Amino acid sequence: MPTMADSTDSFSIDMETSSPGGKEHFIETSKGLISVAIFGDQDKPALITYPDIGLNYMSCFQGLFLCPEAFSLLLHNFCLYHISPPGHEWGAAPTSRDDPALSADDLADQVADVLDYFGLGAVMCLGVTGGAYVLTLFAIKYTRRVIGLILVSPLCKTPSWSEWLCNKVVSNVLYYYGMCGLVKELLLMRYFSKEVRGGSLVPEADVVQSCRRALGEMQSLNVLRFLEALNGRADITDGLKRLQCRTLIFVGENSTFHLESLHMTSKLDRRFSALIEVGRCGSLVTEEQPDAMLMPLEYFLMGYGLYRPCELNISPRSPLSPTSISPELFNPENMGLKLKPIKTRVSKA
Ligand SMILES: *[C@@H]1O[C@H](CO)[C@@H](O)[C@H](O)[C@H]1NC(C)=O
Repeated sequence: MPTMADSTDSFSIDMETSSPGGKEHFIETSKGLISVAIFGDQDKPALITYPDIGLNYMSCFQGLFLCPEAFSLLLHNFCLYHISPPGHEWGAAPTSRDDPALSADDLADQVADVLDYFGLGAVMCLGVTGGAYVLTLFAIKYTRRVIGLILVSPLCKTPSWSEWLCNKVVSNVLYYYGMCGLVKELLLMRYFSKEVRGGSLVPEADVVQSCRRALGEMQSLNVLRFLEALNGRADITDGLKRLQCRTLIFVGENSTFHLESLHMTSKLDRRFSALIEVGRCGSLVTEEQPDAMLMPLEYFLMGYGLYRPCELNISPRSPLSPTSISPELFNPENMGLKLKPIKTRVSKA
C-alpha cells in the first residue's frame, strides 16, 4: 500500500499543516480542494469520517474520541482519516460566490478521490446525518470500496417538507447575515436534544456551548454550500439494496431525523444491519452521548475480528492482567448508559 507523505502524485498537491496529534492534508480532488486530517498508523485499515453540516471532525467526533475506551478501540484497529466537507476545516477561506456549486454526488466522488490519493482500497466509514448521507452514497456508488458503514442519525430520502423549509431559512439567513445567532440556534436544534440545549429552568450543557463557539468559527458561505448540496439531495433508498457491507446505525430517539433513520434501517438487509436507538438524545450521538456508542461499536467490530486491547500498562504476563474482557463490561447499567432496551436487528452473516 503506498503511503501518502512521500507520494509524488502529480495530480495532487499536498500542503501539510500540522494539527494537534494529527496531520492535516489538503487534497486536490476533481471537485476541488478538501482537507483530510489523519490520526494513527497508516499501515492499519482506514476509518473515514464525515461530519454533519457546519461541523468538522473536532466539533463532530471529539466527544466520541475523548471517550478513552472508544479512542483505544478505534485507534487500535484503524488509522483515522477525517474528511472535512469543503471549507469546513478550521481556518478555511470563504469560497468564492462564483465557485460552481457541488452536489451531494460530487461530495461522494470526492471521497473516492481521497481514497485514491492515499492508496486506500476498502475502508470503514463513520458519518453523521449529512455526512452519513455522503458516505452512504459513496458506498452505493463504490460498493467494493466500503467494508462497513457506521451511521449516526442518517438519512436516505429527499428532505421532508419541514426539513427543506428549515434548510431554506438557514441558507437565506446565512447568505445575508452570515453565521448569526439565529443560524446557530437552528443548527444546534438539528444536532442536539432539547434536554441538553436547556431552557429557562435548565442550563445549556457544555457540549452545546462549545459547539456554538465552534460554529462561530465557520465560514458561512462554505456551510451554505454543504447545506444546499444536502437540501438538493436525491432519494437513495433504492440504492441501499445494492450495499454489500454491514451497517451499524445509531439514532438519537429525540433526533429530528429519528423517523428518517428508522425508514432507512427498514430498507437495509436485516442480516447485515443493526439499529441502536439512544434514549434522550438528539442527532449528534457522537457528542451528546458518545458512551452509548461504545458497546455496540465493540460488538460491530468484533464481527470483523477486531477488538479493543485490554488497556493499562500491565505486562501481558502479569497474573493480574485481564485475559478476557469481563462480562460486566457489557452490562449497560455498569456503564451508566441511558440506552433504552437496545432495539437491534442483529447483524452477523
Ligand atoms: C424524547 O423522545 C421520547 C420518546 O419518543 C419522548 O417520550 C420524550 O418526551 C422526548 N423528549 C423530549 C425532551 O422531547
